[in-house]
Formats: sequence, C-alpha cells, structure tokens
Amino acid sequence: MPRRSLPKIQGNRDVSHYFIPMEFEFMAQVDPETAALAQPGDGADKVKRVTYASLSGMTAEQFSERIFGRVAPMEFEIGSGKGLFISSYAKARPDRNILGVEIAYRYALMSASKLAKQNTPNGVMMAADAARVLRELVPLESLVAAHIYFPDPWWKKAHRKRRIVRPDVVSMIEARLAPGGILHFWTDVKEYFDSGVEIIKLSTNLSGPYSVPERPSSGDLDFRTHFERRTRLNELPVYRSYFVK
Ligand SMILES: C[S@@+](CC[C@H](N)C(=O)[O-])C[C@H]1O[C@@H](n2cnc3c(N)ncnc32)[C@H](O)[C@@H]1O
Repeated sequence: MPRRSLPKIQGNRDVSHYFIPMEFEFMAQVDPETAALAQPGDGADKVKRVTYASLSGMTAEQFSERIFGRVAPMEFEIGSGKGLFISSYAKARPDRNILGVEIAYRYALMSASKLAKQNTPNGVMMAADAARVLRELVPLESLVAAHIYFPDPWWKKAHRKRRIVRPDVVSMIEARLAPGGILHFWTDVKEYFDSGVEIIKLSTNLSGPYSVPERPSSGDLDFRTHFERRTRLNELPVYRSYFVK
C-alpha cells in the first residue's frame, strides 16, 4: 500500500470534548500544530489534559462519565485511521458511547475534528497505543463491542509480533467485554485474517468466528472504514468476522 499523506487539521475547531491526547506534552514539543492546540482559548484549554494515572482504576460508569460526560453502553475502536467508522457510527448510534484509539496523533486529531464538526459528543478519540489503553484504562466488562478494522499487517515475519491481533491484546479485549459483548475483526489480508481468527480461538473463550455477509454499498461513504472503501473500489476481497462473549 502506498504511504498515506498527512491529513490537514482544522486548526480553529474546538475539539476539547472529542480529543484526548495521552502523550500531549511530548507531542506538543515535536509538532507545531499540536503546540498551537496547547494555547488556551477563551479561558479554557482546547484539549483535555489527562494522564494514565488520572484515568485508571475507574468503574465503567466513572470512566464513561469522565470521557463522555454521560453513562451509556460503551464501544471501543482500535486504530480509527481517518475516522470514517467512528464518525458514521457515532451518528447512527446516539445511544452508544464510542471510544476510538489511534496511535497516529494526526489521524486521531483528524477523526476528533470530524466528530466535532458533526456534533456527535458520543464519539471521542484518544491518541494513544490501544494496547496500553486496554491494559491500563478500560475497566473490566465495560464494553458492549470492540472493533478492529484493517489493522496494520506488519508484513515482515520479524515484525509480526507488533500486530494488534495478538494473544495478549485479544485476551485483554475478552476481559473488557461485558457478557454478550462482540469483537469485530475485518481485514483485507487473508493470511492475517486466518492467523488472527486462530489466535482469537486459542487465546479466548469467545464464541465464533461468525461471518458477516458483504453488504452492497449505496454511496461513496457507505463503507465501514476508509480501508474497506479502498479495498472494495479495487475489487479486492474483505474478510469479515465477529466473536461473542
Ligand atoms: C491500516 S490502518 C486502518 C484504519 C481504519 N481502521 C480503516 O479501516 O480505514 C490501521 C490504523 O491502526 C493504527 N494503529 C496501529 N497500531 C495501533 C495501536 N497500537 N493503537 C492504536 N492504533 C494503532 C494505525 O496508525 C492506522 O491508522
């Protein structure tokens, strides 16, 4: 896949509700646009300043209240990319709280900016490593669903251990799903799909895999994610599964 260009961020949009940069102080030092966000606007910070310690050890209700300002069933997306899924899903499901975690800071900010633009405060983006967020922040049995769409395949064999669908991460997801909770896993990489499904079967007691039929798309943005859109426009297959706790 060609390297993606860096997205342009709407500098003056208020993303304070929508954006939680976990390594903010560090990012502000290395990135001028981030440094600009550090300037307080109208007497209030433009971004939430939080630390891992300040968000850990909470009950599901306290966590939801702190992140979303309300308690509702929570869903978790790993690697939101440009934010097509979280923005369309937040709009479609106002009854849910959706937390997207994206390690690429600019993409996280871009997705937060989309959520702010469409005024859907039930979607919030965290710029962070999803594995660390799961381990240190997401309360046990607090999620009704976890979404992993088109995770980075890490093609080289030596790099495979960096894949997000790996034993420690899927067992953390299992523990953080409430009974009946769903893990969605889609990819365009057949080898990653097969080995990911095998890892989930071996490392968890989730039932599945259940398959998901391909839905015809009714328009240009009627895809679950940008990567699904790109793959299907290239007429390549998408492998879809879900598992249930
Ligand atoms: C191939 S892209 C897919 C993006 C989106 N899910 C889609 O389907 O269009 C994978 C994304 O996962 C992000 N990512 C990789 N490792 C991550 C991690 N440990 N925590 C959070 N995000 C991660 C990458 O920065 C990238 O944006």
